[in-house]
Amino acid sequence: MSEGVAFAPSLVTATGTSPDRGATTSVRSVADAALAWRDGRIAYVGAAADLPDEFAGLPSTRVGGAIVPGFVDCHTHLPFFGWRADEFEARLAGVSYRDLQGEGGGILRSRRLLAGAADDEVLAFCLPLAQEMLVHGTTALELKTGYGLSVDGELRQARLARALSEDIPQEAVVTLLSCHATPPEYTREQWVEEVCSTIIPAAAAEALVDMVDVYVEDIAFSVDDLRKVAESAARAGLPFRCHADQLGHSGAAEAAVRMGCRSADHLNHAGPEGVKALGSAEETAAVLLPVSTLFLRADPPPVADLIDAGAAIALATDFNPGTSPCLSMPEVVATGCSLYGLSTDAALAASTLNPAWVLGLHERHGTLEVGKRANFVVLDSPSFAMVPYRPGHNPVASVWLAGEPVS
Ligand code: NIG
Ligand code: FE
Repeated sequence: MSEGVAFAPSLVTATGTSPDRGATTSVRSVADAALAWRDGRIAYVGAAADLPDEFAGLPSTRVGGAIVPGFVDCHTHLPFFGWRADEFEARLAGVSYRDLQGEGGGILRSRRLLAGAADDEVLAFCLPLAQEMLVHGTTALELKTGYGLSVDGELRQARLARALSEDIPQEAVVTLLSCHATPPEYTREQWVEEVCSTIIPAAAAEALVDMVDVYVEDIAFSVDDLRKVAESAARAGLPFRCHADQLGHSGAAEAAVRMGCRSADHLNHAGPEGVKALGSAEETAAVLLPVSTLFLRADPPPVADLIDAGAAIALATDFNPGTSPCLSMPEVVATGCSLYGLSTDAALAASTLNPAWVLGLHERHGTLEVGKRANFVVLDSPSFAMVPYRPGHNPVASVWLAGEPVS
């Protein structure tokens, strides 16, 4: 049914194509609502009583909970292969994430696991995870490299990401995160040079990736490395973003704004300059990853300051085997509200419209408005507040992509 009407006790959506900023939200709530679509695109959204006659004859369905836009997960580390629960146990016993990385665990371990698996094994591991994301309401997402960590390994992981995106019903954007860790065969300087002069141009030439990312951290890459990668990405015509100030302060947040990154992600240790820069940034969103904060038992980012400053805030899972093995956007929304103090309206915009903007999908995804794709989630309750109120519960009753029910 690429055309139809859904009637619901309520419909809640952010509006527009530019991200919500600070404490102001564009969230619109309609009681006794109707959503109509044709050719998989929204043709009417509003009160059921005002539904124009032209939609009255379309196949219709009546749902019992709120209709909200599909969640957009703008920061994941899929595709990966295998879990690292023993590292979680080691951290609970007092070993730090930095120490695990130094001992060859962490990202380099996921590199070995990925390298040891055949392509079909990797896809067989990732497909059910993407399906589980769909069941939790994720209708568009990011896929990333960063566990390939050789020239061939990174290009292979980008191809695997593209293959995965073709096998799943959601729309996916592929990001090249070759600067995630330095492979032991290289010095850091040599690897940055390899990424800039070989991998980014090769990935762009094969149209394997849509974006580029850099992990700026004392155990990873510097702000100057970010600049080099950003210049290489710009030469290749690719937008770029960065992991900023996650484990410690590096000034990456303000550098991200200065360099025109699409987003600065994590921000646990962003300082006043980073907050100020993100508050007035036209091009750079602040992507918050509250489940990785919880999972690492890390300090939270200065969220209230970011909101006061007017930053465009997005929420995402950071789904990966090391710092956030959580793929549920409802869980992220719940953690974002309770741990970071986001309002429910801010959390709705931060999990739909704003991440769609980060991924460059805002013309088609992120809100329920005429002309956008009919990607929506039906909740099992009429109120979006039930999503953050009930952590651990999957509040998604059904998921619709381009007007078709898919779960
Ligand atoms: O976003 N911090 C760097 N990258 C990931 C973790 C990757 C891993 O541990 O495998 C993150 O938290
Ligand atoms: Fe990440």
